[in-house]
Formats: sequence, structure tokens, C-alpha cells
Amino acid sequence: MAWNAERWRDEVAALFTLNRVEVDGYRYTRPAPSTYEHQWLWDSCFHAIILRHIDPEMAWDELRAISARPLVSGSDAGMLPHMQYWRGGGEGLWGVDSHSIITQPPLIAIAAQLVWQIAPDEQVLRTIYPTVAAFHTWFARRRDVEGDGLVCLIHPWESGWDASPRWDAPMGLSVLPSDDEARSARLALAATLQERDTDPRTARAEGRFCVIPADFNAVRIADLDALTWMAGQIGSSADAARWAAEARMSRDAFRRRLIRDGLPVDLDVTRGEVLAVETAGQFVTLFGGVLEQSEAEAIAARLEHVEWSPRWRVPTSPVNQPQYAGDRYWRGNVWVNVNWMIWAGLRRYGLIEQADALALQTAELVETEGWHEYFDPMTGAGHGSHPHSWTALVLDMLAVSAGSLG
Ligand code: GLC
Repeated sequence: MAWNAERWRDEVAALFTLNRVEVDGYRYTRPAPSTYEHQWLWDSCFHAIILRHIDPEMAWDELRAISARPLVSGSDAGMLPHMQYWRGGGEGLWGVDSHSIITQPPLIAIAAQLVWQIAPDEQVLRTIYPTVAAFHTWFARRRDVEGDGLVCLIHPWESGWDASPRWDAPMGLSVLPSDDEARSARLALAATLQERDTDPRTARAEGRFCVIPADFNAVRIADLDALTWMAGQIGSSADAARWAAEARMSRDAFRRRLIRDGLPVDLDVTRGEVLAVETAGQFVTLFGGVLEQSEAEAIAARLEHVEWSPRWRVPTSPVNQPQYAGDRYWRGNVWVNVNWMIWAGLRRYGLIEQADALALQTAELVETEGWHEYFDPMTGAGHGSHPHSWTALVLDMLAVSAGSLG
């Protein structure tokens, strides 16, 4: 497939204009019309990474908006919520109108560093730095239950992989739950968090969902690296040293606790066991630079196994798993943001050919099927919301793979 930069940029620009929201003096991009009108944390980070290629000013605005309203009081002060309801609407689910009471993967410093590569803006960096720093301080204070640098999640929505089969057991679901059953359980858990509290220690004590996913932690470690860079950039060497030390501690704990027989695993804190269900989250760990070169190469080789190589890649669950369902939300479909993290992880370990092949295949999928939220790995059929903003991460994959950024 030929890489026609100009055409991709024009199409992405049209998509982002369609999904742009302006409110209270801020601008952000909604994930998709009607289904997802609000602002989501990791979506906005991905949006900034896309926007750097077409409208860097808007990329910075996206990051400004997502860091404008951290929680400022209560036991979760410092947290960036996974959803911002700029026009209200959160009350029913969260007991607060303006935001959710849980978080999502932190990629905000990573996004800032990537936007900076194209359009450095020290003023915005200085504006958002205290919020990003407070967010990571919150993670350490509130979510690091063992105090070793690994963080846990209290709701599947925090992972961004809402309905993944890996959450069935920690959610107390049967081996093959229906979508309705699983969704009701997620809604019930949101209600419990609202009624009780969002302390993972309570969750553990009460036998609720409390997990330490490998991919989430790898992403957080990458974000700590980027935060180290941010602190250096604004001239705070003391802060830079602090974040570097935290990243080091988290990497050590990752290697000690989240790698078993050379493979990354997710931990169920409540039940004190390793989660048995394998997912493509293991490949996402490449993104965090937590693996030795030989481990990374072994994991990258695994990505070529037949259960991970249907017509379209990367399925979020292996296609030979009983729970696999290519057309059901997060139960094995291809998601472009997951592909983007795997692609970036492969590049990080110098596995450029494999990364380029993934970039090209992802672009072919999007080109054939359109801006869907997720895709069936066997047929390529698009599902979910449309047009979905982060699907445009193919632009970043193509632009970087084409060497236009060096
Ligand atoms: C779905 C996804 C989540 C994403 C949101 C908005 O809930 O599971 O990861 O942030 O949609 O796109």
C-alpha cells in the first residue's frame, strides 16, 4: 500500500474537525459522535499524538483540556478522572456531575513529549506539568498497595479494555459470560465504588475487583520516563531525579512480580493469584521498556504465532481461546490504539521490520473498512462507534514508519 501522506492528513483533519468540541474556553476531541460525547483521558492523549501531524496547536489544546480538571479534594485528590463531563451528565453513574471517580492509563507525559518533537511549547509544558506530576503522585499514594512501585486498578474501565475476558474472573463472572451479564456487573461495581469508597485496600478487603495489569504498569512506567523528561525540560532537576527513581523502582518491581517464565502476567490482588487469561496486553508491555532485549524478542516472536496471526492483527485475545469473539467488544477484536502501543514497543526494541509490517497492515484495515472503533480480526468488519477518533493513530504509525520524523 502506498503511503500517501497528504491524503491521510486531509482525511484525519476532517475526522478531527467533525469530532471537535469547544466548551468553557477549552477544546478537545470526542472519541465519536453520540456514543462518546464526553472527554476520555487516554483517548485525549492519543488524540494529541495524532493531532501533532495536522494541527499541533490543537494537540496542545487537547492536553490542556484533559489536564484542566484534576480532582482537587478528597482522598483521590490529584487523580485525573477517566471521563470529564464538561457539560454535566455524570451524576447517575458517579454521584458527581462533572467527572468519573476512576482513572485510565496515563499517557499524558508521553503525548506531551511526542507533540513537543514537532512543536515545542514550553509555556504549555509548564502549565500542565504540575497536574501530570500530581497525577503520578496520586498513583503512588493511592494505588500502590504494596509500596513497591506497581499500581492496581479497581474497575475494568480503568484499564481501557472494558470487557476483556481477563477481567471475567476478578469480576466474579462465569467463564463465558454474556455481554449483558458482564455489563451489569461493571455498572454494579461503579455503583459500589460510589457508595463505598475508591480505596483499593477496601476493594481487596471486600473481595472486589483489584488487579495489577502488566500492560497498564508498563504504560505508567513509560509515562514516568516522559515525566522525567518533562521535569528536565522545565528546569527542575530535583523533580527529574525523583521521577527517574520512581521509574527505576517500578521497573524493578515489574521484573520481580509481573514476569513469569519470561512472559508478562496480570495479578489479581484480591485473590492473590496470576490471572489465567492471556491477552495482547503482554505485547503492549514492550511499550514500557521493562523487558530485556532477549525477552522482548521472544515476546515479539510469539506475536507471529498462529493464534495471534489471523487475517488482521493484532487480536486483543488469541483466536484459539474459548472466550475469543472477534465481533464482541474487547473480546478479541483489533483496536488501533492497542496496535499503536505494540508498534511503538516493537520500534523501541529495534524490531523495525515487524513494526513497519504492523503499521502497513493497520493502515490497510482502516483504509478498507473506515474509522471504526474496533475490527473483527478474521473478516476485518468494523464494529462499535463510527467515526472513532483514535483509529486515526494509523497516521502516526505511517508517518513515523515512513521516516518522516527520523
Ligand atoms: C470505550 C473503551 C475505552 C475508551 C472509551 C472512549 O469505553 O473501552 O478504552 O476510552 O470507549 O473511546
